Amino acid sequence: MSFTVAIDGPAAAGKGTISKAVAVHFGFAHLDTGLLYRAVGAKVLAGADPVAAARALDPADLDGDALRTAEVAQAASRVATDPAVRDALTAFQRGFAARPGGAVLDGRDIGTVICPGAQVKLFVTASAACRAERRWKELQAQGSDMTLETVLADVQARDARDAGRATAPLAAAADAVLIDTSDMSIADAVARTIAVIAAAQ
Ligand code: C5P
Repeated sequence: MSFTVAIDGPAAAGKGTISKAVAVHFGFAHLDTGLLYRAVGAKVLAGADPVAAARALDPADLDGDALRTAEVAQAASRVATDPAVRDALTAFQRGFAARPGGAVLDGRDIGTVICPGAQVKLFVTASAACRAERRWKELQAQGSDMTLETVLADVQARDARDAGRATAPLAAAADAVLIDTSDMSIADAVARTIAVIAAAQ
């Protein structure tokens, strides 16, 4: 039987770090579903049609630091508003979730649309100011000269687009456990998530 953990939340709330740690702890496979939208966004920036790019997506396209740029993130959130793009990416995500041995998927609509029957659903969030500051520090460590104000504006633009779109908007499932990481260390957030999953097993 499959065991699926759905972790949703806005950009830079810590869900990626939490998902990776939880996958290692329980020996689950992990899919960062944002990478699917980023890979499509990157292809669109290179001139491809969004729906054709989503249909032709190959797991090999999901590798690489090139998908981690602010420009690709914005392109991803634009292609993610297209229902046909989302549709083309659904089967891959559901197939991943059904792997024997357990899977963690993190994204925006995993608990609401992709895996509404997931055994565990979490919604990881934090204030926009906290998330922008974390992202800004990461970017600085990578040598970026983006200002905190620009990063905050980017985070807010993506939040508005992700929560405001008609298809599969960013939202907590009614049965999701909420974790606000604004005033929490990553270690505490991981421990809390592990406790929630262990209680559901
Ligand atoms: O999580 P990440 O920042 O990599 O996601 C990039 C963009 O992809 C998000 O801003 C969102 O618009 C989109 N996305 C989505 N549904 C998901 C995962 C990501 O719409 N499950």
